Amino acid sequence: MPAPPIRFDDGAAYEQLMGVWSRAAGDIFLDWLAPRDGLNWIDVGCGNGAFTELLCTRHAPAGVEGIDPSDAQLEFARSRPGARLARFRSGDAMALPFADGVFDAAVMTLVIVFVPDPARAVAEMARVVAPGGSVSSFIWDVEGGGFPLDAPRAEMRAMSLPPLMPPSADAARLDALHDLWSAAGLRAVETRTITVQRRFADFDEYWATCLLSSGIRQALAALPPAEAAALRERTRARLAIDDAGRITCTALANAVKGVKA
Ligand SMILES: C[S@@+](CC[C@H](N)C(=O)[O-])C[C@H]1O[C@@H](n2cnc3c(N)ncnc32)[C@H](O)[C@@H]1O
Repeated sequence: MPAPPIRFDDGAAYEQLMGVWSRAAGDIFLDWLAPRDGLNWIDVGCGNGAFTELLCTRHAPAGVEGIDPSDAQLEFARSRPGARLARFRSGDAMALPFADGVFDAAVMTLVIVFVPDPARAVAEMARVVAPGGSVSSFIWDVEGGGFPLDAPRAEMRAMSLPPLMPPSADAARLDALHDLWSAAGLRAVETRTITVQRRFADFDEYWATCLLSSGIRQALAALPPAEAAALRERTRARLAIDDAGRITCTALANAVKGVKA
């Protein structure tokens, strides 16, 4: 039985669950991208604006258009003081509501695995960027164990529960990203892996953060109480917990960048 789809319907919960991670990886990603200030950007799948705000504060864009299908995420994005120069609107990565060549840079962070047709999304980013412009992305290495909440996912697998897997998980591999960017006609394609860590004060804080994930909540709700409790305890047993009770989680993101010919 497939797991229910992962939902993005609470921008504030997303901030605690994933926004923190997005910015941590985004900082390293932007160091690597090293864009000029004053560019005109599109942020595809901008979500609650976690990365958009980082982009605005670090690189003084001339403008940013944020596109996402989730109204709840967009509402949170519009409330961010640091992203006031960005405009946020509803849209789909596979049919961007812009003319050809109107941006200097297109970026898509932590999104490509949720898009049913990743090749279409990359082609769309390449279409809306002007010649010489940049098209880039980073995404958790879900199949390689790089997802920030890999511990409960691995235990769900071990308990033969429906996998918490986004629809296009294959696209997150480094070789798949390289192929997608090359197939879209982008030049000077480069990839790299980004490693980030996050510390939780104790297991209760860690588990409360896990429960912000709609996928984990739905999985637990479908289990008899004893099995739900077992999943929690198995997750605890999988984690390295230090003498002070703290947990340091490591996540790996695969990143790609290319230039429009
Ligand atoms: C993990 S969040 C990433 C948000 C943000 N970019 C970040 O770095 O925090 C994934 C986002 O992709 C969006 N998404 C899902 N399908 C999409 C599609 N077809 N086109 C554009 N965005 C999509 C979701 O609504 C969600 O906000």
